[in-house]
Amino acid sequence: MINTVPVALPGRAYDVLIGPGLLAEAGPRIAALGGRRHVAILTDETVGQLHLAPLQAALRAAGLTSAALALPAGEATKGWPQLQRSVDWLLDQKVERGDVIVALGGGVIGDLAGFAAAILRRGVRFVQVPTTLLAQVDSSVGGKTGINAAQGKNLIGAFHQPSLVLADTDLLDTLPRRDFLAGYGEVVKYGLLGDADFFGWLEANAAAMAEGDAAARVRAVTRSVEMKAEIVLRDEREAGDRALLNLGHTFCHALEKATGYSDRLLHGEGVAIGCALAFALSARLGLCAQEEPSRVRAHLQALGMKRDIRDIPDDLPEAEVLLDLMGQDKKVQDGVLRFILARGIGAAFVTSEVPRDAVLEVLRESA
Ligand code: NAD
Ligand code: GLY
Repeated sequence: MINTVPVALPGRAYDVLIGPGLLAEAGPRIAALGGRRHVAILTDETVGQLHLAPLQAALRAAGLTSAALALPAGEATKGWPQLQRSVDWLLDQKVERGDVIVALGGGVIGDLAGFAAAILRRGVRFVQVPTTLLAQVDSSVGGKTGINAAQGKNLIGAFHQPSLVLADTDLLDTLPRRDFLAGYGEVVKYGLLGDADFFGWLEANAAAMAEGDAAARVRAVTRSVEMKAEIVLRDEREAGDRALLNLGHTFCHALEKATGYSDRLLHGEGVAIGCALAFALSARLGLCAQEEPSRVRAHLQALGMKRDIRDIPDDLPEAEVLLDLMGQDKKVQDGVLRFILARGIGAAFVTSEVPRDAVLEVLRESA
C-alpha cells in the first residue's frame, strides 16, 4: 500500500510517496519528471553498497542511464569539502537546468544534495529517496537544505523544495537499530508538538514498529509527513509556525556541538533528549502538568532511548557552557533565544520568554 502526501506549495508542489517497494518503481516516477535521460545520484558509501544497484536497475528499466557519487557516511560529510566535491562532480556529469539529481540516503545526503541542487546552475530539480527513518519523516520534506559550519549546525543553506520524495519503508530494514531509534526521536516530536492522539498511538505501537512491523512504519511515517507538510504549507520560510518543528532542537544543537557531531550523540537522539528537556522546562515554568514530562520520559525509556544529558557517554560541559552553545542556534533573534515549549502533549508553542535560571536548572537536573 502506497500513501501519497501532497505538499501543495504554489508553483513548486510535489508528492511524498510512502510505502514498501517504492525503490523498484523509481524509474517511471523519475522519468515522468522529464529532463535528460541521464540521472546523477548522490549517496553515501554505506547506503550505496546496500541500495544503489536496485535504484540504478529501476532507472535502467525505465530507459534512464545513471551515474553515482558515493560520499563518506556520517555527519562530517555535511560540510564545504564534500559539497565542493559533489558540485564539481555534478558539473562533470554535465547536469543541466532541466535535469534531475537524486539524493539516495539519510538526512546528511539529502541536505547536502539538496543544497548542491539549489546552487548548481542557480537551481536544478532533485528527488529525495530517503533511506533513514529520520529522513523519511523529516529531512526529505519541506525544502530545508544545507551544510554545517565550524560555528554550528546547518548554518549554510537554502530553501529548495524537492520535485518528488520516494520514501520506501522497506529500506528501513537495513537500518541499524540505533539509527532507527534516533529517527524515532523525530517521529515522537510530531506527536509531542501537535497531535496527542498520535503520541498515544505511538505509546501503543512504537515497540512493534521498532521490531519491524511494516504497517506501523507506514502509518507512522505517513502521519509524520502529513504533519510536516501541513506546517510547511502554512509557513514555508519559518516566519512563524514552522519553528514548532524545532521542538527539542535548541537543546539538541547545543548537545551536538558539545559532543563534536560525533557518534556519542546522533541528531535524532539529541532531538529526543531535547524534547524531554523542553517538557521538563515547560513543567518547571508551570506551563504544563508535571505528569507530562514524566510521560515523555517513560515513553523514551520504554524504547531504550536516551532521554537525559547523563545518558550521553563521557562528560559534557557544564550547564552554563551548554547555554552559551544554545545562544549560537539559528533560532536566536536579536540575541534572544527562542524556545519551543508546551502546554501539554500535542500543544507546543514558540516563546522567547524563558528565564535563564530555569534553563540552567533543567540542564543541571538532566546531567
Ligand atoms: P545520516 O544521513 O548520517 O544516516 C545515518 C547513518 O545511517 C549513516 O551512517 C548512513 O550511512 C546510514 N544509513 C542510511 N540509510 C541506511 C539504510 N537504509 N540502511 C543502513 N544504513 C543506512 O543521518 P540521518 O539521521 O538520516 O540525518 C541526520 C541529518 O539530517 C543531520 O545532519 C540533520 O541536521 C539533518 N536534518 C535535516 C532536516 C531538514 O529539514 N533538512 C531535518 C532533520 C534533520
Ligand atoms: N526539521 C525542521 C524543519 O524542517 O523545519
